[in-house]
Amino acid sequence: MPYINGLGKYVPEKIIDNAYLEKLVETSDEWITSRTGIKRRRMAAPDEITSDLAYKASLAALHDSGRNVTDITHVFVSSATPDALCPITACVLIRKLGIKGVMAFDCNAACSGFVNALQLACYTAKADPNALILVVAAEIMTRKVDWSDRSTCVLFGDGAGAVLVSQNLPPDPKGFTAEIKDILVDTDGEFSELIAIHAGGSREHYTVGTPVNREYFIRMEGREVFKQAVRSMTSASQTILERNGLKIEDIALAIPHQANDRIIQAVGDRLNIPEEKLFSNVSEYGNTSSASVSLALADARNAGRMPAGSTVLLTTFGGGFIWTAALLKII
Ligand code: UT7
Repeated sequence: MPYINGLGKYVPEKIIDNAYLEKLVETSDEWITSRTGIKRRRMAAPDEITSDLAYKASLAALHDSGRNVTDITHVFVSSATPDALCPITACVLIRKLGIKGVMAFDCNAACSGFVNALQLACYTAKADPNALILVVAAEIMTRKVDWSDRSTCVLFGDGAGAVLVSQNLPPDPKGFTAEIKDILVDTDGEFSELIAIHAGGSREHYTVGTPVNREYFIRMEGREVFKQAVRSMTSASQTILERNGLKIEDIALAIPHQANDRIIQAVGDRLNIPEEKLFSNVSEYGNTSSASVSLALADARNAGRMPAGSTVLLTTFGGGFIWTAALLKII
């Protein structure tokens, strides 16, 4: 299987804490902390757009690997909050990176987008052993929340993570290096209405002068999504472990989608993962949609939680519904 070589992240400087949200909507630090574990989230500056976050995370991944930007052959940007419907964020990103002639496109699989893009990168790397694929997950969720809806505005934050994927490693790989052992992606469109942003595409008709209403912002049936998230991430993790002949004891660290500490704990409990093997940084960043596991991967690496030789389990869940699991062997 292909390798990740190079990992980078970027989060905007501005921190929005729970006390700030108490002034905006009827909520409390106590409610947000006890229901979600979130204490703070990052917010992009007014002049920052998704491709800026993607650019900074990409530079960090390139720097980590020691590779040159001109070595990149493919750019896959995962985002549910792209710069615009057109031009695609991947093309804006390659302009910022100063490269041309690469295959560049956006992929949106909501919160599971990073692992879906990683899967696509694996297929590409296998088909083209000379490919160096930049996979970036970048989100500005704070521009897609209705700041008067307390059930969603307290949950989300902004950030980006990036990795470089290739079929073969350079002779002396630098930076974060891991073999992608396996990836599982599953979907069920029956639940597509439970997390949605209805307007902005073809579904809602609008024209010049149509006022922006709630349909342009994220809506979520939190309670039902919670249940499905726990079920799906648990079963995907069990399946990927089984089909690789692994037990939970073989996993050094599990990194679930960072939406809510209670979901992370529930998945950990069902899989019998001890506390110290369960990674969470949701208190710092909130739910950054598809950037979530890439940011968590970068933070886990910085915290020394993924030593060489260890096996790491990623699992994600989000709108669609789309859920995933992946196994990485750290080199
Ligand atoms: O990334 C995609 C995947 N997303 C997720 O995985 C998110 C899944 N869902 C969740 O994390 C949780 O369902 C939430 C954090 C969104 C909500 O937690 P909950 O324990 O499911 O609360 P709830 O929606 O059942 O609401 C309980 C109460 C309600 O009041 P009543 O009806 O009991 O009087 C809400 O109106 O809490 C109220 N509430 C709030 N109160 C204070 C909802 N949001 C807030 C708030 N502050 N921010």
